[in-house]
Amino acid sequence: VRSVLTTIGNISAHVGEKVKLGVWLYNRRSSGKIQFLQLRDGTGMIQGVMVKSQVSPETWEQAADLTQESSLYIEGTVREDERSPSGFEMDVTGIEVIQTAEEYPIALKEHGVEFLMDHRHLWIRSPRQRSILRIRAEIIRAMQDWLNGEGFTLVDPPVLTPSSCEGTTNLFHTKYFDEDAYLTQSGQLYMEAAAMALGRVYSFGPTFRAEKSKTRRHLIEFWMIEPEMAFVDHEENLRIQERMVAHVVQHILQHCRDELKVLKRDTSALEKVKAPFPRITYDEAVHLLNREGMEFSWGEDFGAPHETKIAESFDKPVFITHYPTGTKAFYMKPDPERSEVVLCDDLIAPEGYGEVVGGSQRIDDPRLLEERFQQHQLSQEAYEWYMDLRKYGSVPHSGFGLGLERTVAWICGLDHVRETIPFPRMLNRLYP
Ligand code: 4AD
Ligand code: MG
Repeated sequence: VRSVLTTIGNISAHVGEKVKLGVWLYNRRSSGKIQFLQLRDGTGMIQGVMVKSQVSPETWEQAADLTQESSLYIEGTVREDERSPSGFEMDVTGIEVIQTAEEYPIALKEHGVEFLMDHRHLWIRSPRQRSILRIRAEIIRAMQDWLNGEGFTLVDPPVLTPSSCEGTTNLFHTKYFDEDAYLTQSGQLYMEAAAMALGRVYSFGPTFRAEKSKTRRHLIEFWMIEPEMAFVDHEENLRIQERMVAHVVQHILQHCRDELKVLKRDTSALEKVKAPFPRITYDEAVHLLNREGMEFSWGEDFGAPHETKIAESFDKPVFITHYPTGTKAFYMKPDPERSEVVLCDDLIAPEGYGEVVGGSQRIDDPRLLEERFQQHQLSQEAYEWYMDLRKYGSVPHSGFGLGLERTVAWICGLDHVRETIPFPRMLNRLYP
């Protein structure tokens, strides 16, 4: 009988059967009479057991000559095995080598970060990197499922834009034939237009910031999910954020147990991430910092050490709301009771991961918006279409942006965002 081609991820359906797998060799040990082949196929890892007395001498030799990352088809019978991490093993009856790999640069030992980053295209094959990328994909899925279930419609904003959303200092400039164009910093302004057309919308895509910051939280190219909601005020905006974030964390705890184990993530902190989340105002946060002995004056923006200090007082993500108008973007609506602060929030993750979400209620008054354009020295011409949204049935509306990579870093417990995205674009790194 010809065995069926399957994957390691589906192996539990084939116990007792003879199957064929397309695999790469991860590692090999031999006792002289038995070879233990650690095999991976992207969906998982399985140990193949080859007994010398049960295969032809050629097959035995071929297996013995396999180098790390050699590609092959392997045939054998699937067996349940409690001692194996995957729960299964394969008794190997035959192999078909596709390619014997050249000496693999990423040997099974410790390497420096820059070396690994230069070999990112190979590094992603490791169990740890695979687990991170699996969790990343599952976070995206959980967010989209949740938003779709809540009646949001996916809308795709442009990547090439004529104007800025988050300030003009970190724009990526490019020529657009004879015009100037910028890579998008955020889809928000377009999502506001979409919300006036479809009610509750979200976008998911890459965004760009030419930031000269070299920190463990900053990427030049990162992915954002950006919901925008008509007729939703600041208060309701916070409730939607905490429900979405709690859903995502609980979904990953349920569906990515194996991956979290590979990452050795302590999940007890994640278990606590359930709505509602604590909230403090910017003013309260300033008091908290001063009380803890950190110098900080009203009107400044929080840096990473401040955010970490604030987060330490809570065991869940915490919302900081009502920032001074001067620290935030032009489109945020002032608090009607206190015009020196805006109706905004930053959601700070626990354990020092910093701001994962930024959101606000948007200015809906055309006159105030015009004032803001002047104050921020933004050309009204480029934003004429955005002004139209305040002329033709302006409504209260709010939205937020969740930074995917910081969320992945937090949920996976990583100390740098460079591992959260397949091919990170960072200050001084455009390769591979
Ligand atoms: O706070 P930000 O700049 O907000 C906006 O862009 C809004 N227009 C979003 C909206 O309301 N629709 O960015 C949102 C999130 C941050 O909280 C952070 O998680 C992430 O995007 N982020 C970055 N992640 C990685 N590298 C960077 N350089 C980032 N800048 C922001
Ligand atoms: Mg922000």
